[in-house]
Amino acid sequence: MSVFVAGSEAVRELLKINGIPTTETLEKSKAVVASTSWYSRFGGRDKEELFRKALGLPGVLVIDAPTDWETIAVFKEKGFRVCGLSSVCWEAWRLTEGELPVSPVRFEVPAQPANNTFEPSGSIENKPEEKEENGRIEPYISPLFNQDTLLLASFSTKGGVGKTALASNLGAYFAMQGRSTAVVDFDLEGNLAEVLGLLEQVDRYPNTDNWREYGKELPRRLVAHSAGFRLLPSGRNGRLTDEDAEEILSRLSREYEVIVVDFGTNPFAPHARMALSMAHRAFLLTIPEQGYMETLIKRFLSAHRDWVESGKAVLVVNKVTPASYYRPEHVAEMGGFKVWKEIPEDPAFEAAKRAGKTVLQMKKADSREWICAVAEEAAGRRQRGSSLLDRLVRGRG
Ligand SMILES: Nc1ncnc2c1ncn2[C@@H]1O[C@H](COP(=O)(O)OP(=O)(O)OP(=O)(O)O)[C@@H](O)[C@H]1O
Ligand SMILES: [Mg+2]
Repeated sequence: MSVFVAGSEAVRELLKINGIPTTETLEKSKAVVASTSWYSRFGGRDKEELFRKALGLPGVLVIDAPTDWETIAVFKEKGFRVCGLSSVCWEAWRLTEGELPVSPVRFEVPAQPANNTFEPSGSIENKPEEKEENGRIEPYISPLFNQDTLLLASFSTKGGVGKTALASNLGAYFAMQGRSTAVVDFDLEGNLAEVLGLLEQVDRYPNTDNWREYGKELPRRLVAHSAGFRLLPSGRNGRLTDEDAEEILSRLSREYEVIVVDFGTNPFAPHARMALSMAHRAFLLTIPEQGYMETLIKRFLSAHRDWVESGKAVLVVNKVTPASYYRPEHVAEMGGFKVWKEIPEDPAFEAAKRAGKTVLQMKKADSREWICAVAEEAAGRRQRGSSLLDRLVRGRG
Protein backbone atom coordinates (compact mmCIF):
# COMPACT_ATOMS: atom_id res chain seq x y z
CA MET A 1 0.00 0.00 0.00
CA SER A 2 1.42 3.35 -0.99
CA VAL A 3 1.55 6.75 0.62
CA PHE A 4 -0.12 9.65 -1.13
CA VAL A 5 2.29 12.56 -1.29
CA ALA A 6 0.84 16.03 -1.30
CA GLY A 7 4.26 17.52 -1.13
CA SER A 8 7.32 18.81 -2.85
CA GLU A 9 9.61 16.77 -5.08
CA ALA A 10 12.19 16.66 -2.32
CA VAL A 11 9.77 14.92 0.01
CA ARG A 12 8.68 12.46 -2.68
CA GLU A 13 12.30 11.72 -3.52
CA LEU A 14 13.24 11.17 0.11
CA LEU A 15 10.46 8.65 0.61
CA LYS A 16 11.40 6.84 -2.58
CA ILE A 17 15.07 6.67 -1.69
CA ASN A 18 14.13 5.04 1.57
CA GLY A 19 11.96 2.42 -0.07
CA ILE A 20 8.57 3.80 0.88
CA PRO A 21 6.18 3.42 -2.07
CA THR A 22 4.43 6.60 -3.03
CA THR A 23 1.44 7.28 -5.24
CA GLU A 24 -0.15 10.30 -6.78
CA THR A 25 -3.59 8.73 -6.67
CA LEU A 26 -5.37 9.41 -3.44
CA GLU A 27 -7.78 6.48 -3.84
CA LYS A 28 -4.97 3.95 -3.81
CA SER A 29 -3.36 5.20 -0.65
CA LYS A 30 -3.95 4.54 3.01
CA ALA A 31 -1.96 7.43 4.37
CA VAL A 32 -0.90 10.93 3.40
CA VAL A 33 2.31 12.87 3.60
CA ALA A 34 1.59 16.56 3.11
CA SER A 35 4.20 19.29 3.09
CA THR A 36 3.94 22.94 4.07
CA SER A 37 5.48 24.07 0.76
CA TRP A 38 2.69 22.23 -1.03
CA TYR A 39 0.07 23.72 1.28
CA SER A 40 1.33 27.25 0.74
CA ARG A 41 0.89 26.84 -3.03
CA PHE A 42 -2.53 25.35 -2.44
CA GLY A 43 -5.41 26.84 -4.40
CA GLY A 44 -8.13 26.02 -6.91
CA ARG A 45 -11.25 23.88 -6.65
CA ASP A 46 -9.72 20.52 -7.52
CA LYS A 47 -6.98 20.90 -5.04
CA GLU A 48 -9.44 21.97 -2.40
CA GLU A 49 -11.43 18.79 -2.96
CA LEU A 50 -8.25 16.72 -2.89
CA PHE A 51 -7.19 18.41 0.30
CA ARG A 52 -10.53 17.67 1.99
CA LYS A 53 -10.26 13.97 1.13
CA ALA A 54 -6.62 13.73 2.08
CA LEU A 55 -7.31 15.12 5.51
CA GLY A 56 -9.65 12.20 6.14
CA LEU A 57 -6.74 9.76 6.05
CA PRO A 58 -4.05 9.24 8.66
CA GLY A 59 -1.20 11.52 7.81
CA VAL A 60 1.84 13.52 8.62
CA LEU A 61 2.65 17.14 7.87
CA VAL A 62 6.28 17.73 7.03
CA ILE A 63 7.58 21.25 7.52
CA ASP A 64 9.73 21.81 4.44
CA ALA A 65 9.08 25.56 4.10
CA PRO A 66 8.37 28.42 6.52
CA THR A 67 4.86 28.20 7.84
CA ASP A 68 2.55 29.63 10.49
CA TRP A 69 0.86 28.13 13.52
CA GLU A 70 -2.58 28.29 11.90
CA THR A 71 -1.49 25.95 9.12
CA ILE A 72 -0.05 23.51 11.59
CA ALA A 73 -3.23 23.72 13.66
CA VAL A 74 -5.39 22.79 10.65
CA PHE A 75 -3.44 19.58 10.18
CA LYS A 76 -3.10 18.79 13.85
CA GLU A 77 -6.83 19.06 14.31
CA LYS A 78 -7.22 16.29 11.75
CA GLY A 79 -4.85 14.10 13.71
CA PHE A 80 -1.80 14.68 11.52
CA ARG A 81 1.59 14.36 13.15
CA VAL A 82 4.02 17.17 12.43
CA CYS A 83 7.67 16.56 11.63
CA GLY A 84 10.73 17.92 9.81
CA LEU A 85 12.42 16.62 6.68
CA SER A 86 14.88 14.56 8.66
CA SER A 87 12.20 12.32 10.14
CA VAL A 88 9.52 12.22 7.45
CA CYS A 89 10.56 8.73 6.31
CA TRP A 90 10.30 7.37 9.78
CA GLU A 91 6.89 8.96 10.25
CA ALA A 92 5.65 7.67 6.89
CA TRP A 93 6.85 4.21 7.74
CA ARG A 94 5.13 4.38 11.09
CA LEU A 95 1.81 5.31 9.47
CA THR A 96 1.87 2.14 7.44
CA GLU A 97 3.79 0.04 9.90
CA GLY A 98 4.01 -3.61 9.00
CA GLU A 99 2.89 -3.15 5.44
CA LEU A 100 5.67 -1.28 3.77
CA PRO A 101 9.16 -2.45 3.02
CA VAL A 102 11.14 -0.30 5.36
CA SER A 103 14.18 0.05 3.23
CA PRO A 104 15.81 -1.69 0.30
CA VAL A 105 19.12 -1.21 2.08
CA ARG A 106 19.26 -3.96 4.65
CA PHE A 107 22.17 -4.57 6.92
CA GLU A 108 24.00 -7.75 6.03
CA VAL A 109 26.59 -9.59 8.01
CA PRO A 110 29.66 -9.50 5.78
CA ALA A 111 31.17 -12.73 4.53
CA GLN A 112 33.97 -14.35 6.48
CA PRO A 113 36.83 -14.27 6.92
CA ALA A 114 38.21 -10.87 7.68
CA ASN A 115 41.19 -9.62 5.84
CA ASN A 116 43.52 -9.52 8.79
CA THR A 117 47.07 -8.79 7.91
CA PHE A 118 48.39 -7.94 11.32
CA GLU A 119 50.66 -10.57 12.84
CA PRO A 120 50.90 -10.05 16.57
CA SER A 121 54.28 -10.48 18.14
CA GLY A 122 53.07 -11.11 21.66
CA SER A 123 50.87 -13.87 22.98
CA ILE A 124 47.13 -13.44 22.60
CA GLU A 125 44.64 -15.96 23.85
CA ASN A 126 42.44 -16.82 20.92
CA LYS A 127 39.30 -18.30 22.25
CA PRO A 128 37.85 -20.74 19.68
CA GLU A 129 34.47 -18.98 19.41
CA GLU A 130 36.19 -15.66 18.77
CA LYS A 131 37.87 -16.90 15.63
CA GLU A 132 34.63 -16.91 13.66
CA GLU A 133 33.30 -13.64 14.96
CA ASN A 134 35.16 -11.24 12.85
CA GLY A 135 34.85 -9.36 9.60
CA ARG A 136 34.02 -5.87 8.59
CA ILE A 137 31.23 -3.85 10.05
CA GLU A 138 29.89 -1.63 7.31
CA PRO A 139 28.59 1.82 8.25
CA TYR A 140 24.82 1.88 7.87
CA ILE A 141 22.40 4.80 7.78
CA SER A 142 19.11 3.53 9.09
CA PRO A 143 16.06 5.15 7.48
CA LEU A 144 14.25 4.58 10.77
CA PHE A 145 16.75 6.42 12.92
CA ASN A 146 16.20 10.13 13.46
CA GLN A 147 19.47 11.53 12.16
CA ASP A 148 19.16 14.63 14.33
CA THR A 149 20.05 12.37 17.25
CA LEU A 150 23.70 11.81 18.06
CA LEU A 151 24.48 8.10 18.44
CA LEU A 152 27.66 7.25 20.36
CA ALA A 153 29.25 3.88 21.01
CA SER A 154 31.63 2.86 23.79
CA PHE A 155 33.25 -0.41 22.76
CA SER A 156 36.32 -2.62 22.69
CA THR A 157 37.30 -6.18 22.02
CA LYS A 158 38.64 -6.47 25.54
CA GLY A 159 36.98 -6.66 28.95
CA GLY A 160 37.53 -4.36 31.90
CA VAL A 161 38.95 -1.45 29.91
CA GLY A 162 36.28 1.06 30.96
CA LYS A 163 33.58 0.81 28.27
CA THR A 164 30.78 0.93 30.79
CA ALA A 165 32.42 3.68 32.81
CA LEU A 166 32.83 5.82 29.70
CA ALA A 167 29.27 5.17 28.48
CA SER A 168 27.71 6.31 31.74
CA ASN A 169 29.95 9.36 31.98
CA LEU A 170 29.22 10.40 28.41
CA GLY A 171 25.54 10.06 29.30
CA ALA A 172 26.06 12.22 32.37
CA TYR A 173 27.99 14.84 30.40
CA PHE A 174 25.27 15.37 27.80
CA ALA A 175 22.47 15.24 30.37
CA MET A 176 24.28 17.92 32.39
CA GLN A 177 24.49 20.02 29.24
CA GLY A 178 20.70 19.94 29.17
CA ARG A 179 20.48 17.41 26.35
CA SER A 180 17.87 14.70 26.61
CA THR A 181 20.06 11.63 26.80
CA ALA A 182 19.56 7.88 26.89
CA VAL A 183 22.20 5.31 27.78
CA VAL A 184 21.59 1.83 26.38
CA ASP A 185 23.21 -1.34 27.71
CA PHE A 186 23.86 -3.55 24.70
CA ASP A 187 26.31 -5.62 26.70
CA LEU A 188 23.71 -8.32 27.24
CA GLU A 189 25.66 -9.76 30.13
CA GLY A 190 26.32 -6.23 31.24
CA ASN A 191 26.18 -4.59 34.61
CA LEU A 192 25.39 -1.01 33.75
CA ALA A 193 22.23 -0.95 35.89
CA GLU A 194 24.17 -2.37 38.81
CA VAL A 195 27.03 0.10 38.46
CA LEU A 196 24.48 2.91 38.36
CA GLY A 197 22.64 1.66 41.43
CA LEU A 198 19.52 0.85 39.44
CA LEU A 199 19.63 -2.94 39.53
CA GLU A 200 16.35 -3.26 41.42
CA GLN A 201 14.58 -1.22 38.77
CA VAL A 202 15.50 -3.46 35.85
CA ASP A 203 12.31 -5.53 35.90
CA ARG A 204 9.98 -2.63 36.66
CA TYR A 205 11.10 -0.54 33.69
CA PRO A 206 11.89 -1.25 30.04
CA ASN A 207 14.96 -3.41 29.48
CA THR A 208 16.47 -5.24 26.49
CA ASP A 209 14.15 -8.24 27.11
CA ASN A 210 10.76 -6.58 27.64
CA TRP A 211 11.15 -3.40 25.54
CA ARG A 212 8.54 -4.45 22.98
CA GLU A 213 5.79 -4.51 25.61
CA TYR A 214 6.09 -0.74 25.95
CA GLY A 215 5.30 -0.04 22.28
CA LYS A 216 5.43 3.62 21.38
CA GLU A 217 5.74 4.54 25.05
CA LEU A 218 9.20 2.97 25.27
CA PRO A 219 11.31 6.15 25.14
CA ARG A 220 9.30 7.97 27.80
CA ARG A 221 9.22 5.04 30.21
CA LEU A 222 12.96 4.53 30.65
CA VAL A 223 14.26 4.58 34.20
CA ALA A 224 15.93 7.85 35.24
CA HIS A 225 19.40 8.13 36.77
CA SER A 226 20.44 10.88 39.19
CA ALA A 227 22.91 12.25 36.60
CA GLY A 228 19.93 13.24 34.45
CA PHE A 229 20.00 10.63 31.72
CA ARG A 230 17.60 7.74 31.17
CA LEU A 231 18.72 4.14 31.02
CA LEU A 232 17.70 1.09 29.03
CA PRO A 233 19.43 -1.68 30.99
CA SER A 234 20.08 -5.16 29.67
CA GLY A 235 17.59 -7.85 30.69
CA ARG A 236 18.47 -11.37 31.66
CA ASN A 237 17.77 -13.34 28.49
CA GLY A 238 20.77 -12.00 26.66
CA ARG A 239 19.38 -12.08 23.13
CA LEU A 240 18.77 -9.35 20.57
CA THR A 241 18.75 -9.51 16.78
CA ASP A 242 20.19 -6.86 14.52
CA GLU A 243 16.66 -5.76 13.70
CA ASP A 244 15.79 -5.46 17.39
CA ALA A 245 18.79 -3.21 17.86
CA GLU A 246 17.83 -1.00 14.94
CA GLU A 247 14.28 -0.71 16.20
CA ILE A 248 15.23 0.05 19.80
CA LEU A 249 17.69 2.77 18.80
CA SER A 250 15.30 4.23 16.22
CA ARG A 251 12.46 4.41 18.70
CA LEU A 252 14.66 6.12 21.24
CA SER A 253 15.90 8.53 18.59
CA ARG A 254 12.39 10.00 18.44
CA GLU A 255 12.72 11.22 22.01
CA TYR A 256 16.41 11.71 22.78
CA GLU A 257 19.00 14.09 21.38
CA VAL A 258 21.87 11.87 22.42
CA ILE A 259 22.03 8.09 22.75
CA VAL A 260 25.10 6.38 24.20
CA VAL A 261 25.43 2.63 23.75
CA ASP A 262 27.56 0.41 25.97
CA PHE A 263 28.84 -2.83 24.45
CA GLY A 264 30.20 -6.15 25.61
CA THR A 265 33.53 -7.47 24.39
CA ASN A 266 32.10 -8.86 21.16
CA PRO A 267 31.39 -6.07 18.67
CA PHE A 268 30.51 -8.75 16.09
CA ALA A 269 27.35 -10.03 17.80
CA PRO A 270 24.42 -9.18 15.46
CA HIS A 271 22.86 -6.50 17.66
CA ALA A 272 26.25 -4.98 18.45
CA ARG A 273 27.23 -4.95 14.77
CA MET A 274 24.04 -3.10 13.95
CA ALA A 275 24.44 -0.50 16.68
CA LEU A 276 28.10 0.05 15.82
CA SER A 277 27.37 0.38 12.13
CA MET A 278 24.69 2.98 12.88
CA ALA A 279 26.81 4.97 15.36
CA HIS A 280 28.07 8.43 14.38
CA ARG A 281 31.08 8.05 16.62
CA ALA A 282 32.59 4.94 18.11
CA PHE A 283 34.95 5.22 21.07
CA LEU A 284 37.35 2.34 21.03
CA LEU A 285 38.69 1.72 24.51
CA THR A 286 41.99 0.24 25.47
CA ILE A 287 44.44 0.39 28.31
CA PRO A 288 48.10 1.18 27.63
CA GLU A 289 49.34 -2.41 27.72
CA GLN A 290 50.84 -4.31 24.84
CA GLY A 291 48.44 -7.29 24.65
CA TYR A 292 45.37 -5.09 24.73
CA MET A 293 46.40 -3.02 21.76
CA GLU A 294 47.41 -6.07 19.76
CA THR A 295 44.05 -7.73 20.28
CA LEU A 296 42.32 -4.55 19.18
CA ILE A 297 44.34 -4.31 16.01
CA LYS A 298 43.96 -7.98 15.22
CA ARG A 299 40.27 -8.23 15.92
CA PHE A 300 39.01 -4.88 14.76
CA LEU A 301 41.27 -2.16 13.51
CA SER A 302 42.93 -4.01 10.65
CA ALA A 303 39.55 -4.30 8.91
CA HIS A 304 38.41 -0.78 9.81
CA ARG A 305 41.09 1.60 8.65
CA ASP A 306 38.43 3.82 7.12
CA TRP A 307 36.72 4.21 10.50
CA VAL A 308 39.97 5.57 11.83
CA GLU A 309 40.64 7.79 8.85
CA SER A 310 37.14 9.26 8.69
CA GLY A 311 37.17 9.92 12.44
CA LYS A 312 34.20 7.63 13.12
CA ALA A 313 36.45 5.63 15.45
CA VAL A 314 38.20 7.55 18.22
CA LEU A 315 40.74 5.80 20.41
CA VAL A 316 40.41 6.25 24.16
CA VAL A 317 43.41 5.12 26.17
CA ASN A 318 42.07 4.56 29.67
CA LYS A 319 43.63 3.99 33.09
CA VAL A 320 46.83 5.76 32.13
CA THR A 321 49.43 5.94 34.91
CA PRO A 322 53.06 7.09 34.95
CA ALA A 323 53.97 3.41 35.16
CA SER A 324 52.01 2.38 32.06
CA TYR A 325 53.80 0.06 29.66
CA TYR A 326 53.11 2.47 26.77
CA ARG A 327 52.58 6.19 26.61
CA PRO A 328 49.12 6.98 25.19
CA GLU A 329 50.66 8.58 22.10
CA HIS A 330 52.46 5.33 21.32
CA VAL A 331 49.25 3.40 21.69
CA ALA A 332 47.56 5.80 19.28
CA GLU A 333 50.43 5.44 16.86
CA MET A 334 50.15 1.65 16.94
CA GLY A 335 46.50 1.89 16.01
CA GLY A 336 47.14 4.57 13.38
CA PHE A 337 44.96 7.13 15.18
CA LYS A 338 45.47 10.81 14.65
CA VAL A 339 42.52 11.54 16.92
CA TRP A 340 42.78 9.94 20.33
CA LYS A 341 41.99 10.75 23.94
CA GLU A 342 43.35 9.58 27.26
CA ILE A 343 41.85 9.16 30.71
CA PRO A 344 44.08 8.78 33.75
CA GLU A 345 43.61 6.10 36.33
CA ASP A 346 41.49 7.70 39.00
CA PRO A 347 40.13 6.31 42.29
CA ALA A 348 36.99 8.40 41.67
CA PHE A 349 35.79 5.61 39.32
CA GLU A 350 35.57 3.13 42.18
CA ALA A 351 34.07 5.71 44.52
CA ALA A 352 31.44 6.57 41.91
CA LYS A 353 30.60 2.92 41.41
CA ARG A 354 30.10 2.40 45.14
CA ALA A 355 27.73 5.40 45.22
CA GLY A 356 25.79 4.35 42.10
CA LYS A 357 26.95 7.56 40.45
CA THR A 358 29.03 8.66 37.51
CA VAL A 359 32.48 10.16 37.95
CA LEU A 360 31.21 13.51 36.68
CA GLN A 361 28.89 13.66 39.70
CA MET A 362 31.73 13.19 42.17
CA LYS A 363 33.02 16.26 44.00
CA LYS A 364 36.63 15.28 43.58
CA ALA A 365 37.69 13.58 40.39
CA ASP A 366 41.04 14.18 38.73
CA SER A 367 39.84 12.56 35.54
CA ARG A 368 36.91 14.96 35.10
CA GLU A 369 38.50 17.23 32.50
CA TRP A 370 39.78 14.22 30.54
CA ILE A 371 36.33 12.65 30.44
CA CYS A 372 34.86 15.98 29.34
CA ALA A 373 37.44 16.18 26.56
CA VAL A 374 36.21 12.83 25.22
CA ALA A 375 32.60 14.05 25.35
CA GLU A 376 33.49 17.29 23.59
CA GLU A 377 35.19 15.30 20.90
CA ALA A 378 31.93 13.42 20.44
CA ALA A 379 29.83 16.56 20.33
CA GLY A 380 32.04 18.73 18.21
CA ARG A 381 33.11 16.56 15.36
CA ARG A 382 29.99 14.70 14.74
CA GLN A 383 29.67 12.68 11.58
CA ARG A 384 26.31 13.43 10.10
CA GLY A 385 24.91 10.25 8.64
CA SER A 386 22.32 11.94 6.48
CA SER A 387 24.23 14.31 4.28
CA LEU A 388 21.45 13.91 1.74
CA LEU A 389 18.90 15.28 4.19
CA ASP A 390 21.23 18.09 5.11
CA ARG A 391 21.63 19.07 1.52
CA LEU A 392 17.91 19.03 0.92
CA VAL A 393 17.21 21.13 3.97
CA ARG A 394 19.98 23.60 3.17
CA GLY A 395 18.93 23.72 -0.46
CA ARG A 396 15.55 24.99 0.60
CA GLY A 397 16.80 27.57 3.09
N1 LIG B 1 40.22 5.64 34.48
C1 LIG B 1 39.93 4.74 35.44
N2 LIG B 1 40.58 4.75 36.62
C2 LIG B 1 40.30 3.85 37.58
N3 LIG B 1 39.39 2.89 37.46
C3 LIG B 1 38.71 2.79 36.31
C4 LIG B 1 38.94 3.72 35.24
N4 LIG B 1 38.09 3.41 34.22
C5 LIG B 1 37.39 2.34 34.65
N5 LIG B 1 37.75 1.97 35.88
C6 LIG B 1 37.26 0.83 36.66
O1 LIG B 1 37.65 -0.36 36.00
C7 LIG B 1 36.68 -1.36 36.13
C8 LIG B 1 36.24 -1.82 34.76
O2 LIG B 1 35.59 -0.75 34.12
P1 LIG B 1 34.30 -0.97 33.25
O3 LIG B 1 33.33 -1.88 33.93
O4 LIG B 1 33.81 0.33 32.81
O5 LIG B 1 34.97 -1.76 32.03
P2 LIG B 1 34.25 -2.51 30.84
O6 LIG B 1 35.16 -2.39 29.69
O7 LIG B 1 32.88 -2.04 30.69
O8 LIG B 1 34.26 -3.99 31.42
P3 LIG B 1 33.39 -5.24 30.89
O9 LIG B 1 34.14 -5.78 29.73
O10 LIG B 1 33.42 -6.15 32.09
O11 LIG B 1 32.05 -4.73 30.56
C9 LIG B 1 35.53 -0.75 36.92
O12 LIG B 1 35.66 -1.12 38.27
C10 LIG B 1 35.75 0.75 36.75
O13 LIG B 1 35.25 1.48 37.84
MG1 LIG C 1 31.12 -3.09 30.72
